Amino acid sequence: MEVKSLIKNRAEALALCLLPSVAQRIKDGQPTKTFLERLVRSGMTRKAAKDGEWDMLRSQLAAYWRGGEGDEFYEAYPNRFDEWFLGAHYCVVEQLRTLCDQYPDTLTELYEIGCGDGKVLMHMNERFPEFHRLVGIDINSKVIERNRSTHKDPKVDFTDDAALDWLSENGRSGSVLMTYGGVLEYFTQCEVETIFRKVASLSPAAIVLVEPVNFNYDLNKESDSRPYGDEHSFSHNHRVLLQRCGFELAHQSECRLDHRWQMLVAMIH
Ligand SMILES: C[S@@+](CC[C@H](N)C(=O)[O-])C[C@H]1O[C@@H](n2cnc3c(N)ncnc32)[C@H](O)[C@@H]1O
Repeated sequence: MEVKSLIKNRAEALALCLLPSVAQRIKDGQPTKTFLERLVRSGMTRKAAKDGEWDMLRSQLAAYWRGGEGDEFYEAYPNRFDEWFLGAHYCVVEQLRTLCDQYPDTLTELYEIGCGDGKVLMHMNERFPEFHRLVGIDINSKVIERNRSTHKDPKVDFTDDAALDWLSENGRSGSVLMTYGGVLEYFTQCEVETIFRKVASLSPAAIVLVEPVNFNYDLNKESDSRPYGDEHSFSHNHRVLLQRCGFELAHQSECRLDHRWQMLVAMIH
């Protein structure tokens, strides 16, 4: 282990041990603002990943994105849209375009979980003028508020409701579920399968995903999700999970851009 990570590990463990009241407040859902709070949250995430406590890990990952640290992401990676989405990741959009042309009037709405700054959703609105309604869902309320004031289009809406609750109450037949740039990696395998099943129940429906996976995750042999990297987010085998929920794959490929990305488009009739 590198000296830097070793020092970080020790500092996190020490902070966890010395600041149990901070850990409790974080467990209760308080956002992490100070350096020490972030250190404790990071320690809790590491511990949950090590102990296989997936629900606890999931709530730590959600706390990260809900709070101030999550906000900083959009400013730190301004070129993702131009360089990644419009570049090597764009094949999923072309494949969805092909499906929509092949089955006209079938897919009519698009819901993007983890829409972040909304650029991808607004692009999909332009590229798929036949969609009647596009909804961006994100756990970060500040980002949703900002999107509502910057992206004004009567067909487009943004919400910070919990993704599965929103889908269950509002999802309609003929919908496309999209996640782009690493979103389902913050959900447990059980939640991902529940989301896929929910979308399958809206058939005809499609799913478009661009999600990272650990370099050492064997997509041909492994099917159980497991955490990886400094963030301790989940590597899922999306092909297996989609097929398990009844979807047929229309596209599956991989690319490497800082991370290893799975790119998939699947449909259920
Ligand atoms: C890596 S960013 C990707 C953002 C955007 N799709 C992009 O590529 O620029 C992950 C996004 O997922 C959101 N997110 C994380 N957990 C979530 C959850 N449980 N429900 C909804 N959104 C979530 C985060 O707030 C963040 O906007």
